[in-house]
Amino acid sequence: MNKSSKTSGPCPTELTVVKRQLRQETIRRKTAEDKLKDSRLHYNQLLAQSLLMQEQLRHLSHQILLTQENERKHISRELHDEISQILTGINVRLAALKVEAAANTGTLKRNIISTQRLVEKSVATVHRFACELRPAMLDDLGLIPALNTFIKEFVQRTGLRVDFFPMPKDKIEKLDSLKRTVLYRVAQEALNNVDKHAHASLINISIQVMENSLRMEISDNGISFNVNRTLSSKRHKRLGIIGMRERVEMTGGTFAIESEPEKGTTVSVQILFDESQPGV
Ligand SMILES: Nc1ncnc2c1ncn2[C@@H]1O[C@H](COP(=O)(O)OP(=O)(O)OP(=O)(O)O)[C@@H](O)[C@H]1O
Ligand SMILES: [Mg+2]
Repeated sequence: MNKSSKTSGPCPTELTVVKRQLRQETIRRKTAEDKLKDSRLHYNQLLAQSLLMQEQLRHLSHQILLTQENERKHISRELHDEISQILTGINVRLAALKVEAAANTGTLKRNIISTQRLVEKSVATVHRFACELRPAMLDDLGLIPALNTFIKEFVQRTGLRVDFFPMPKDKIEKLDSLKRTVLYRVAQEALNNVDKHAHASLINISIQVMENSLRMEISDNGISFNVNRTLSSKRHKRLGIIGMRERVEMTGGTFAIESEPEKGTTVSVQILFDESQPGV
């Protein structure tokens, strides 16, 4: 027995070779493991960097939106208070000239009348432009009056039917200026989108107040579109929907858009009331 077990086992030279191979294999595996560890570390660092950059970009886009809104406010006031006043002044002078010209030639009078019409048209255009940029009403009277005025002008311009159900007003107007502006801008963009793309005949706007938040929904009965495909398309360079989402998320709220054939499109926004807000 002893003799046969001795003859079947590896000889010392073979053992040394096997041991060396084992050692090499261990070293190879250890190196591979270290490399894997390194690459995992590198991957984690890249991930952390990209998250940081994403956060910085988000902060930057919020700053841009805030600056844009402040600039709009400034230009709107300038247009309304300065240029509009000058045009009105010119119009008053033209009216005086018209009286003087009555004693003279008819051509002069006609010229003055047509110039006056031009000035009146410019006053109306400046007023509309100022309102589109930033309705003074939003700051002075609040969200609901500003939305009512915008909807009235929208209905006149587009011929679409808009049903608006805000409730209850007092809580809505307690929202801070930024949140009111965000709701106004979302309604403005959503309505303009319906006019531009939906081929709808009816728009519903509802604002509901819940315990800690407010929910605004804007739905249309028009043609639907593939939201995911539109937003992920490389050709999608438009800023409407992206801007709505950014504005809402900037205030800590949530934004969603759903679109289904036969049902149309619904934009929903949920904005949180400030915790310190009294009575909400
Ligand atoms: N209510 C809607 N009904 C049907 N399609 C819509 C509606 N809203 C948006 N869309 C589709 O989604 C696309 C993206 O809308 P988005 O508002 O981002 O851009 P836009 O309106 O084309 O351009 P802008 O940057 O001027 O807003 C539109 O081009 C349109 O195809
Ligand atoms: Mg748009």
